[in-house]
Amino acid sequence: MKKAILLSSLLLHAFCYAQTPLVTNIANRSTISLNGKWQYIVDPYETGFYDYRWKERNEKDREAYWNSDVPENKTDRKEHGYTVKNSLTVPGDWNSQDAKFLYYEGSVWYKRSFDFPDVGDKKVFLYFGAVNYKADVYLNGKKLGAHKGGFTPFNFEIARSLLKEKGNFLVVKVDNKRFADEIPTLNTDWWNYGGITRDVQLVIMPQNFMTDYSIRLAKSSSSSKEKKIEGWIKLNTAVNENILLEIPALKFKKEITVNGDSAGFDFTVPALEVWSYQHPVLYKVILTSKDDKVTDKVGFRTIEVQGAQILLNGEPVFLRGICIHEEIPNPGRRAYSRADALKLLLQAKELNANMVRLAHYPHNENMVRVADSLGIMVWSEIPVYWTIDFANSEVLQKAKQQLNEMIARDHNRASVIIWSVGNETPVTEARTKFMSTLVKTAKQLDGSRIISAALETHTENGVITVDDPLGEFTDIVSVNEYLGWYGGLPSNCRTAQWKVKYDKPLFFSETGAEALEGFHGDSLTRWSEEYQQWFYREQVAMMKRMPANFSGLSPWILNDFRSPRRNNPVYQEGWNKKGLFDRNGKKKKAFYILKAYYDEMQKKKL
Ligand code: GCU
Repeated sequence: MKKAILLSSLLLHAFCYAQTPLVTNIANRSTISLNGKWQYIVDPYETGFYDYRWKERNEKDREAYWNSDVPENKTDRKEHGYTVKNSLTVPGDWNSQDAKFLYYEGSVWYKRSFDFPDVGDKKVFLYFGAVNYKADVYLNGKKLGAHKGGFTPFNFEIARSLLKEKGNFLVVKVDNKRFADEIPTLNTDWWNYGGITRDVQLVIMPQNFMTDYSIRLAKSSSSSKEKKIEGWIKLNTAVNENILLEIPALKFKKEITVNGDSAGFDFTVPALEVWSYQHPVLYKVILTSKDDKVTDKVGFRTIEVQGAQILLNGEPVFLRGICIHEEIPNPGRRAYSRADALKLLLQAKELNANMVRLAHYPHNENMVRVADSLGIMVWSEIPVYWTIDFANSEVLQKAKQQLNEMIARDHNRASVIIWSVGNETPVTEARTKFMSTLVKTAKQLDGSRIISAALETHTENGVITVDDPLGEFTDIVSVNEYLGWYGGLPSNCRTAQWKVKYDKPLFFSETGAEALEGFHGDSLTRWSEEYQQWFYREQVAMMKRMPANFSGLSPWILNDFRSPRRNNPVYQEGWNKKGLFDRNGKKKKAFYILKAYYDEMQKKKL
């Protein structure tokens, strides 16, 4: 077992650390926040990056926007500059901070200065929670590196020689333009919020430190009294020392011998309280090496598929879910803070949900840490969405990188039970090869969770068939179905027949209908709250007729959300209105239909 665990850690580092070793558990490291007001230059023609012959400017080029904007003397010509009157708040998308940015897709240069204290011989990293979509990062005129991917963390080590005591000039070029060969691709049903959308921190680390670690309950312990804990520790360099692992609440201590830059471990504890959504117990874990100490709060639980059932801690579980976009509907902005996470997850709790599908991309780390504490299971997903360029090997690499960064950040979060490698991808040979490769990669990286994707269905004469070839590879069969919204009427649910090729747990990863809040009519009136309510009534009745392998659902969606695709001038106005809550947090009539169903399922101890 130790070897397998170690392999997963090395793979994790091999893939996602090709760029820069990601420092995990940032919340519990020594950090200096660089959040706050940054100055910006909007640069739709990339003037700060390319010269007038569209040649990339070299580092010395004084007209490059990563270089100082201060003229050397009264004659010096500077055609760029950062001023307080052009400021954006970090973290935060730019779209919601100023009307001129609402639809903006292009490059914005962010700049802030900072002083740096004496930290002895410590190592210094610059850490970004996420930047959508591409970041080029410069410090004092030197390029630290670049990162692509709008929803996962990354960091760069800063050479100490580059840091000054006063006035460090930090510049980040953010470009949120969409391209066919990126992840996601050109076409999405969500707003392309650009910017430095999550925290920015300087991370101060000892010369030898623990970059990452895993600690989890072994699957074999799901139903045994004795609890076996397994895991690994990865360091930034090879050491020859013992690392102390402590779980104070269990009065447990163990020395782990490390000869090299990583070590696996496993041990049993007489008893511990497993994490569950009903009882989200988190244990403080402390790892102390010669130079480093890191603490975390970890839930111990197992999640697995056995036959056609999902088992949490060895017991069948029914996922009473709801989909969530990473957005605060009023005013319509990217969510990023702990307060935002609490707001969204407490809404899910009002629905009596025990699970959330974080669509369609990894949400900020607060969401999974708050879900750990509140007792909400999580489906976390990379934005391999719709018409990705599946035949392109570089695009597969980009998807693997985002998959690795998602797993690297959250693999110690008990709430995360499902990794999803994509959503509604059209069935072709190239697509199934691409997606099945991602499923295998996810399994290699983390054999302790369920691997899924929203699969395709097709309907003929009222029979909905699920025979998507990707279903051979995923652990559960998840499908999005909108019977009665996209095609037919909700009453079609009464005669719908389901034909599923795979004897695996069946999960409805989406179902939903739109309603303009406060618009009322009879149930046949499209866009009325009554139509949405009828839709949910018929859907719930159909769920109750589903066979035993039906293991749950995550309807689309908790809140109304911005989308450039939704342009009905009366009922949508740039918003997808499938929310059970409207933009002002008011419940629509359909909310109560789903809640009643979830209350009933809870009483059945599911
Ligand atoms: C699709 C898709 C969602 C989209 C939803 C809708 O299934 O996965 O991203 O917003 O349906 O049409 O509202």
